[in-house]
Amino acid sequence: MNTATPDLTRLRALPRAEVHVHLEGCFEAAMLAQWAARFNEPMPRPIERLFAFEGLADFLHFLDWACGLVRTPEELAQAAYAFSQRLAASGTGYADLIFNPTHWRHWQGRLPAMVDALDAGFRAAEQDGLPPVGLCVSLLRTQSADAAAELVDLLVQLRHPRVVALSIDGNEAAAGRTGPRFAEAFRRAGAAGLKRTVHAGESSGPEGVRDAVELLGADRIDHGVRAIEDPQVIDLLVQRQIPLGICPTSNRVLGVYPSIDVHPIERLRAAGVPVSINTDDPALLGTGLEHEYALCQKAFGWPDDVLRAVARTSIDASFANDDVKASLRDALGRW
Ligand code: ADE
Ligand code: ZN
Repeated sequence: MNTATPDLTRLRALPRAEVHVHLEGCFEAAMLAQWAARFNEPMPRPIERLFAFEGLADFLHFLDWACGLVRTPEELAQAAYAFSQRLAASGTGYADLIFNPTHWRHWQGRLPAMVDALDAGFRAAEQDGLPPVGLCVSLLRTQSADAAAELVDLLVQLRHPRVVALSIDGNEAAAGRTGPRFAEAFRRAGAAGLKRTVHAGESSGPEGVRDAVELLGADRIDHGVRAIEDPQVIDLLVQRQIPLGICPTSNRVLGVYPSIDVHPIERLRAAGVPVSINTDDPALLGTGLEHEYALCQKAFGWPDDVLRAVARTSIDASFANDDVKASLRDALGRW
């Protein structure tokens, strides 16, 4: 096994995309404290412990508080621009960025304005040479079928070029089995040309991953790691080559696995499942994409050809346009 200390500079130069990352997970503690002070909003806990989460439910509750501090289009554009800067600092060439309108209490019923504000930030970032970003607009697992239909109607009407996919995230353990509830919304999104990405196999078991594929038509699965518990679900992913957007540190911090040593990413990869490495919520979980690659390189002794293959999967699995994908693949060939 290669247990040499990973070279972060070299990993930052590895051409790759990030396909599982949430805007809601990109707030820095200092920025949140500053916004909270400005509006006299009480902090949920002292700043030193602001990001000390007690599992997924507590984490999702925190997102509501953090996003509730954002009120103006300028602040949203600033958050988008800051996200692109974060990508550049990690050496990431493109990202599919998930954002979930339900967390943002000052923006309820104003999705088009939200997308416009974020788009303005991403356009400014691209003009400044920062990496491009596509948006995946997300449902919450605990929403109703009617709310899902309404969101899809809006996205189809809007046809905003920045929006590449319909997503669903949130707490599957709290929601129970909801694949059937969201099947029609995902079917319509797919028929309208949107890609589909589905959180499953994090707070649900392998049955959630199966539903994501069979009921929601997932082009990609966010997490999906608990597929490892059912060989038939592993087979399904291998047969259909459905890529997983895996987030090792997130899985440890939010209590899915106690350590990287028992994380199933290597077993899934070795079984032939297309796996990519991602951060999920980098600021809140204290990580960056190069660190996630380093973690796997060290834990599993990955040689360069495996790092290259995982990076290649991230590009292939992304919803970037063909030009962006081609240029990332070229660069990867030169790494
Ligand atoms: N939203 C942000 N991060 C999430 C996660 N890890 N699981 C479900 N929903 C999320
Ligand atoms: Zn996620």
